[in-house]
Amino acid sequence: MTTLRLKTSSPVFNVSPSHYDLAWWQTGIIYEVYPRSFQDSDGDGVGDLRGIQQRLGYLRDLGVDAIWITPFFRSPMADFGYDVSDYCAIDPIFGTMDDFDALLADAHAMGIRVIVDFVPNHTSDQHPWFIESRSSCENPKRDWYIWKDPNPDGTPPNNWEGFFGGSAWTLDERTGQYYLHMFLEQQPDLNWRNPDVIAAMSDVLHFWLKKGVDGFRLDAITILIKHEDFPDMPLDADGTLYGGDLLLQLVDVHNQPDLHPILRRFRAITDSYPGDRVLIAETGAANFDELMQFCGSQLDEVQLPMNLNTMLLPWDARMMRDSISDYYACLLPGAVPNFVFGNHDQSRFATRFGDQHHRAINALLMTLWGAPTLYYGDELGMPDGRILPHQQKDPFTVQYSDFGLGRDPERTPMQWDETPNAGFTPPNVEPWLPIRTTFASSVAAQSADPVSTLHFCKRLIQLRRQYRALNRGSIQFVDDHHPDLLIYLREFEDERILILVNFGALLHSVDASTFASRAELLLTSRMDTPMTQSADSISLRPYETLLLKLVQEVNPDD
Ligand code: GLC
Repeated sequence: MTTLRLKTSSPVFNVSPSHYDLAWWQTGIIYEVYPRSFQDSDGDGVGDLRGIQQRLGYLRDLGVDAIWITPFFRSPMADFGYDVSDYCAIDPIFGTMDDFDALLADAHAMGIRVIVDFVPNHTSDQHPWFIESRSSCENPKRDWYIWKDPNPDGTPPNNWEGFFGGSAWTLDERTGQYYLHMFLEQQPDLNWRNPDVIAAMSDVLHFWLKKGVDGFRLDAITILIKHEDFPDMPLDADGTLYGGDLLLQLVDVHNQPDLHPILRRFRAITDSYPGDRVLIAETGAANFDELMQFCGSQLDEVQLPMNLNTMLLPWDARMMRDSISDYYACLLPGAVPNFVFGNHDQSRFATRFGDQHHRAINALLMTLWGAPTLYYGDELGMPDGRILPHQQKDPFTVQYSDFGLGRDPERTPMQWDETPNAGFTPPNVEPWLPIRTTFASSVAAQSADPVSTLHFCKRLIQLRRQYRALNRGSIQFVDDHHPDLLIYLREFEDERILILVNFGALLHSVDASTFASRAELLLTSRMDTPMTQSADSISLRPYETLLLKLVQEVNPDD
């Protein structure tokens, strides 16, 4: 076994004076709640707002700063709430407006902020606006959506395909025109070039801000404004539309400069309310420079354009390091990075990377420089659920079988205890998606086990809160591009914390004596067998993650 001697490198991010005083969202942990699957309070097998309220104590004890709740607005549920038919009403399946008000009040009383989802690109086809728009070509709301005449041969106006497959256009037989939908045909796209749409949707933001929500997660904003000419998308060499560069094609066609005044308007609206309200956004970007464009050149657009790139990376130290460094290198001055390793659209990381790696990913999430988003259940190392074909619910899968098992596996109910149905819904009720019964690792079981992943995550969160080095310090990679080890140093004033992740199956020895005379173990992913470490000989076991506090002792004789 050779020893890796750590070397100083230039920090990929440096502390500036502004880092003494950061807003809550610049360091805070955002916890994503998928409301259908968090907690059912009324025994119908579907989670709801009261359920979330009942579990706030758990979230407070976990130590999160904010919850982002995915859509709970009135909806026919073609895309489980991402098809909204009334932006200012609660869908009865999730409860009432009183329930939301009570949840918000309780969350605030516990110091937890609440971010709601805003779905601006499209409404439901059952939204009164669309029903009117569809009624005739002369209806005043016709232009609120995107309607086009067929080509002379009757085919759709262009070759665009929806994200869920098939043409992005559906013919309305009665009026003889096609409408655009970048997702399901039940999700018609709004026309954001129409000032009345901008005004009506701005009213929605005001409605929720007046209630006191702390911000919005903006859904699918990359495609909000379409190319004015609606050009065909370029085809791949083999003549097909879908290919490796789909995203690039979409960005060319959809990521239009005219989007930015709209984002600035959203930001001006949130900034006009007291308190630090935040805009986070789902973004499709071909690279990190493009991702940063959503912040606006004056940092006057979205505060946190979500870095979804890390969810696409394999378990590979070099690729992880390169991606993280590239991202930091592209940050606009003053912008705050953010990391997302799991959400309701991607297979869970415990499944993607394998069971022995979820602690490492949680450690990266909580110790890299940037605001972390944690998807419910990932703090337990919850894997994807097993969904049999007859149990599939995601329209993505149900309508388009070529998409395999769709997004149901990552949306299975939270596992609270070891009773049948895991405390999510009563034992005699059928949950909307099956509980992953073979994963006997509920909140209750892990709470009782001092070396569980839940305890590991709680400790990470405590350390992140305790040490400014972790929540706002500079960061430098000191691993000399080792193929298996990702090692970085976080520093703030005299605090220095070393984070070491072993991506490989071999034991490694690491010498950090360039940096310190003593290394104090703060946390190891192998909580059951912690090892005392010394600065000049740190032992890193297969797949182990370590957090060490580095101390430089001053010799009194010096
Ligand atoms: C976003 C959501 C996804 C939804 C889609 C359409 O990508 O994350 O769940 O299906 O938008 O609104």
